[in-house]
Amino acid sequence: MTQKRYQITFDPGSEQGLGAVVVLLHGLLLDHSMFSDQLEHLAKQGIRVISLSYAGHGGSDRLGVGPSVGAMADQVFAMLDELGISEPVVIGGLSMGGYVAFAGLEKYRQRIRGLVLMNTKAVPDTPEEAANRQRACELIRQAKSISPLAMTMLPRLLGKSTMRHKPEVWQKVARILDCMDVEAACDALIALANRPDRRPMLAGIDVPTLVIAGEEDLISTPEEMELIAKEIAGSEFVIIPGVGHLSTLEEPEQVGQVLARFLQKYFNNDGYPDKKRSSVDA
Ligand code: MLT
Repeated sequence: MTQKRYQITFDPGSEQGLGAVVVLLHGLLLDHSMFSDQLEHLAKQGIRVISLSYAGHGGSDRLGVGPSVGAMADQVFAMLDELGISEPVVIGGLSMGGYVAFAGLEKYRQRIRGLVLMNTKAVPDTPEEAANRQRACELIRQAKSISPLAMTMLPRLLGKSTMRHKPEVWQKVARILDCMDVEAACDALIALANRPDRRPMLAGIDVPTLVIAGEEDLISTPEEMELIAKEIAGSEFVIIPGVGHLSTLEEPEQVGQVLARFLQKYFNNDGYPDKKRSSVDA
């Protein structure tokens, strides 16, 4: 029996639609359900959308190799192999998902034909940020629960408008964080602390790219996201008003519409790029 090369939670709810393939990659300590609304929206537009939970997330087992964003990208493409998807896909990542998307571009460029960067960063951790992740890991190991980390993360993840007016979003995020295993959380923290600087790669990105920022995002500020967009030739930049770091959960419909517009503009629904309309390919 061949052993699976990835350990990913992939349930029927994490794939919808037929057509050009888009893979959505979630953020730190979250899981594929942060894209449920976009899956539904995009599937109705004739797009095949897949979201997955990396190993150790969404209730799946930890990966048996050292944690890194590159290893997470390997899981994504191994999953596409398992699904028999060999044609190039559009990769969309939110925050940590963006770091994984960058790693995917570095390792699997020929398998990627479009990029969506949501609420993410190109800069690596500063030494202080990396040390904070190490401390967070020690703290949750001592507590035998990720609660202390979740409690400090939550208010920074959501925008002030969401915190004030949408308690259901806060509750949903808290429920997802609550499922996270302590050692899997430490794996992710270590992977992020060691991630490379992606600024040197931005100017060389040659696939149609959409950059989405949240107006109230304190972690990946709109200013920082705009700098990323400016470096990527021909990219589109959109700020979603009234949202923080978790734009897909905070304003699911608006983000779904922005994604759909971008995908319709650059890609046909027959699984091949629309060369005529792609300014980057032209
Ligand atoms: C995330 O949401 O994935 C995190 O904010 C990423 C990070 O801590 O750098």
